[in-house]
Amino acid sequence: MTWDELERACADCRKCALYETRTKPVFGVGNRAAEVLFVGEGPGESEDLQGEPFVGRAGKLLDDMLSLIGLDRRENIYIANIVKCRPPKNRDPLNTEQDACIDWLRAQYALIRPKIVVCLGRISAMRLIKEDFKISREHGQWFDKDGVRFMALYHPAALLRDPNRRPETFVDLKELERVIRAVCEHTL
Ligand code: URA
Repeated sequence: MTWDELERACADCRKCALYETRTKPVFGVGNRAAEVLFVGEGPGESEDLQGEPFVGRAGKLLDDMLSLIGLDRRENIYIANIVKCRPPKNRDPLNTEQDACIDWLRAQYALIRPKIVVCLGRISAMRLIKEDFKISREHGQWFDKDGVRFMALYHPAALLRDPNRRPETFVDLKELERVIRAVCEHTL
């Protein structure tokens, strides 16, 4: 399947009940040839209205975090979510909803073939790195999966709630930058 076919098929998805309450599905944004893939949890209110990931307050912070290390959502990375449709009232996506949706992300992953995957927050890390992932202990650490490097950062919304975690996130971002420079050919 091509990117455009995939995006069209995703827009018609009815694999779980979230399509009934969403405004727009949020497929993803960025460079489809990126070496670095960021994965959040699921759309919030602003994302649901605009059809793009991370465009609310947390998204503005994410853009600032990215720019600290020379990354830009439209230039040199791709951003997607575990679930493509907004869970009502911003609740965590249910496991059944994640299970129903994950094949869209798998297909995006297969097309991108990233060298590095950055999980934004606990939900994404528990789904993509390991079920018992502990974000407060394991953020910023590298996990190898079939030669692809995975790392989790605190979710930008968590950093808005608790600014005390920002210094650790700065260290994690610098570590991410170091590894991007070491393993990616055309990102930075
Ligand atoms: N939070 C997420 O995890 N993803 C978005 O797209 C927006 C907010």
